[in-house]
Amino acid sequence: MFVHRRRGWEIHDSQITPESVFLQRRQLAKVLAAGPILTAALPVLGPTSALAATDPSASLYPVKRNLKYKVDRPLTPERIATTYNNFYEFGSHKRIYQTAQRLKLRPWMITIDGAVERPMKFDIDDLLKRMPLEERVYAHRCVEAWSMVVPWSGFSLKALVDLAKPLGKAKYLVMQSFQDPKVAPGQRQTWYPWPYTEGLTMFEAVNELSFVVTGLYGKPVPKQNGAPLRLAVPWKYGFKHVKSIVRFHFAEKRPISFWEKLQRREYGFWANVNPKVDHPRWSQASERDIATGKRIPTKIWNGYGDYVASMYASLKGEKLFM
Ligand code: MTE
Repeated sequence: MFVHRRRGWEIHDSQITPESVFLQRRQLAKVLAAGPILTAALPVLGPTSALAATDPSASLYPVKRNLKYKVDRPLTPERIATTYNNFYEFGSHKRIYQTAQRLKLRPWMITIDGAVERPMKFDIDDLLKRMPLEERVYAHRCVEAWSMVVPWSGFSLKALVDLAKPLGKAKYLVMQSFQDPKVAPGQRQTWYPWPYTEGLTMFEAVNELSFVVTGLYGKPVPKQNGAPLRLAVPWKYGFKHVKSIVRFHFAEKRPISFWEKLQRREYGFWANVNPKVDHPRWSQASERDIATGKRIPTKIWNGYGDYVASMYASLKGEKLFM
């Protein structure tokens, strides 16, 4: 039976003083004490920049921005979007970016299996060479009622579906994250149903907005944001955006996702954004922009209704916004 434990997204930010932040403050204090010359020599690099220098896919970026996808808010600064994350494999709080550096990105194999003409395995770098990379600016809205605006790079999920050649009986696309409790301390917490799993209907998977993310801010996507590839489906809550994917499985039956297994009443399969449908424990009417701290009204479908609303018109009796 599920024992309710408070997760990071249920704890107000002000209640969290993660160890990494605390240690960073102490380190910074030491450096500042060493004097102005050393301080001036400090590199002005975010946590992503060091990674970009060593990632074998770094030379692929930046890629051309697709100007079709626009958001009426400024981009969130890179430093903020890459240091405020949900990635439970590395901890149940927001400051996991240092712990996430343990993730080893090469070799990284991706399996495509289930109801497909022929199961396949790809090395990430071979896959990246085959895919038409572009940049898209999307709004990113978490079920916890915070949001940001980020420039993802990657390719449409439809391109991957076309490559996989699913059979007619495939109704869902299930995506799974890596599993390695040796590098991911969160996976030693056995009450979570690892590996992190999420799914979409095939209609959703081939919708033009569904995007496989491989880059962020013109560089390979950082580990804490789901390297080397993660999902972006901007009309849905962030927990659908499965990170560090190793498997795409085409299924006949609807999968039960990670959070749904833990708390079915609160985190459903559809998870489409709707300001009028509250989470059982908090309002979804507005969201906090993590860059400015300001609350802004939440839009239905996170503002992407023109692209997605028609997919759901004939679905009756489903909890589309939970
Ligand atoms: N994927 C995995 N594997 N593990 C996770 O804990 N958290 C989800 C999603 N994908 C999560 C995950 C949640 S709750 C959110 S809001 C987004 O990742 C956060 O993405 P970001 O850190 O890039 O903003």
